[in-house]
Amino acid sequence: MPKKIEKKIQKYYANRAKEYDKTYLRPERQDDIKKIHLLLKNLLKGHRVLEIACGTGFWTKTIASVAKFITAVDINNEVLRIAKNKLIHSKNVIFIQDDVYLLNMTQGVFSAGYAGSWWSHILKSKLKGFLDVFHSKFQPEALIIFMDNRYREGSSTPISRTDSDGNTYQIRKLDDGQEYEILKNFPTKQEIMESLGTSVKNFEMESLPYFWIVYYNIS
Ligand SMILES: C[S@@+](CC[C@H](N)C(=O)[O-])C[C@H]1O[C@@H](n2cnc3c(N)ncnc32)[C@H](O)[C@@H]1O
Repeated sequence: MPKKIEKKIQKYYANRAKEYDKTYLRPERQDDIKKIHLLLKNLLKGHRVLEIACGTGFWTKTIASVAKFITAVDINNEVLRIAKNKLIHSKNVIFIQDDVYLLNMTQGVFSAGYAGSWWSHILKSKLKGFLDVFHSKFQPEALIIFMDNRYREGSSTPISRTDSDGNTYQIRKLDDGQEYEILKNFPTKQEIMESLGTSVKNFEMESLPYFWIVYYNIS
């Protein structure tokens, strides 16, 4: 069953690639988006960054403008093509097609990691395994940043069901009418801290009206 859930997320984002960036045009989210751009620029300046689930490169472009270099990973060629096009003039970016649950193809020495709108798509039962793989790619003391959506009535797609583990799902519709049931979790600070456990330090969380951002160092 879980494999099916992850495959569906992969397929949904492949098919959503061309319409994905519309999400960043929502008027009510503009203030938050500006703040996140600024925070990423401040935190990631001069870093050697590994970004996972980079999608169409919306945040990759911001990070590339300040980082020493950035390796941006996604499983879907459909989104990577768009991201590559966006960053065609950036000399400090490489893209890799890889699965974040394995990261077999992703090599390098990284001082910082970033994932935008990705934590919410991980089954609660898979979080620990995912974090072990992701953290294994970094130097000690590396800075890790997760940014994701907060649930906002009237702006978020409603939750359609909750499974026995407490994972929540939404029915998402693409422009061509196709519907997908997509795993989308909205974790509390406590849940995030519990998932990270004792292998991290300097944990910080900022809650904006529409997004949350967590950052910490690997200890
Ligand atoms: C919600 S989008 C986030 C895109 C981008 N980080 C952003 O914030 O705009 C999730 C991304 O995860 C990618 N993805 C889904 N499953 C994946 C996997 N197993 N490994 C790597 N990327 C995956 C999708 O292709 C999609 O681009």
